[in-house]
Amino acid sequence: MASIVELEERQALIAAGHPDRAMGFRKSDIVSDIARTVAEIVRSCAGDEVRLCAIVERELAHTLKDSSWIWREGGETASTSYRRDLLYEAADGSFSVGRFLWPAGQTTSIHDHRAWCVMGCVCGTLESQSYLRLTDGTLTAGSVDVIAGGDHLSSRAGTGDIHRMLARKASCAVSIHVYGCKFSDVIANRYAETGEILSV
Ligand SMILES: [Fe+2]
Repeated sequence: MASIVELEERQALIAAGHPDRAMGFRKSDIVSDIARTVAEIVRSCAGDEVRLCAIVERELAHTLKDSSWIWREGGETASTSYRRDLLYEAADGSFSVGRFLWPAGQTTSIHDHRAWCVMGCVCGTLESQSYLRLTDGTLTAGSVDVIAGGDHLSSRAGTGDIHRMLARKASCAVSIHVYGCKFSDVIANRYAETGEILSV
């Protein structure tokens, strides 16, 4: 397992334009490699989610440069809804990794999360529409982040992370998401357009 120092050295090599020298850290089983790497990041960054998310983002961006492994994990894009597949979940529930398949034009509900989240877009184009919840409980639309293939994004629970994901209508999309909790516990609240909290 790569230590946090080795991970940061590898990311520095990649940032400096030497990805070939960084590849020596890579394992053949990509999902297991991601799991081991995220486990080490979670352990090393306990209490510092800003640093944790930044390192996981860079790690995911590097991993997604070769996306061929994603298709070996099985599954096809559903035609009527987005599909989420669990790829890995830590035994202690401290993090999980999932793959999302998005038919063109599909959206999620408005929701927020129980934990930190890092997502990377493999292909297609996704949008994250953020919302602010006002003191009267209503929602007002905020900024939109556009996440195309190769882009990544992170959020932390309790820091205004209410959003809705959307796959643009031009084509389907694929994304990989890493959450700081069990895959089944990701959603904290779902919201109606009015701001009313719906059952999860
Ligand atoms: Fe989300």
